[in-house]
Amino acid sequence: MYTSTDAKPWTVPMLADAKGEGRKLVMLTAYDAGFARVLEENGTDLVLVGDSLGMVVQGHDSTLPVSVADIAYHVQCVARGLDKALLIADLPFGADATPERAFEASMRFLQAGAAMVKLEGAGHKLEVIRFLVDREIPVCAHLGLTPQSVLRLGGYKVQGREDKAAARLREDARLVAEAGATLLVLECVPSALASAITHASTIPTIGIGAGADCDGQVLVLHDLLGANTGHRRPKFVKDFLAEGGSLAGAVRAYSEAVRSGAFPDAAHAYE
Ligand code: KIV
Repeated sequence: MYTSTDAKPWTVPMLADAKGEGRKLVMLTAYDAGFARVLEENGTDLVLVGDSLGMVVQGHDSTLPVSVADIAYHVQCVARGLDKALLIADLPFGADATPERAFEASMRFLQAGAAMVKLEGAGHKLEVIRFLVDREIPVCAHLGLTPQSVLRLGGYKVQGREDKAAARLREDARLVAEAGATLLVLECVPSALASAITHASTIPTIGIGAGADCDGQVLVLHDLLGANTGHRRPKFVKDFLAEGGSLAGAVRAYSEAVRSGAFPDAAHAYE
């Protein structure tokens, strides 16, 4: 069984090693030091301060109201709870609208303890990725359902079901890696498409509603614990507290299920 003492601190280059060796990456969101510590002690490799905090912590209907200051505050909190896990900070809505704005926000997050920033989309964001990577800021890309695009998408829907959209997603995955991203989150994507992207990708993929073939998995902590966030629970969410019996047990059950490939099963994925 995994314990916190049998792992070295995560570094960015170790992500590529994990993909090369076929080791699954276990990622969860956290927003404070106490939960972050429990995550790390129970098998979590990567911790994300996601802009999901707008919905699960602040109680908004979307992630759009989250500010750079909000993320920076929670990154500071989470960083104090971690020794080994790699900490990733989300660039909130608008903070990555230009390369310069993204750099200012990213600098704050790295100085607060993050090792990488995450941003949604491709298109003009490719220039932002290149700008950040050229300035020593590791980047995680996020494709598929990008919650900051909720107004354009008209809701939180599975992406890439039609041939044209699937081809676009495949191409965007290639382009974000080429621009310098070192990690790629795929959200709400049919399992077969996520599998094809993962096999073609030079960088590790992390799935959330994207099937078991991704190189790792992420869930929002509140969803893993079955908390009522006031929002509809997507199909890919599994309540691990019911199975694990305690907070630590739930995180351990999730980590072990991701590493063994048992999660997500077909009931928690899209065709
Ligand atoms: O904000 C967030 O928590 C995320 C994850 C769902 C990947 O982006």
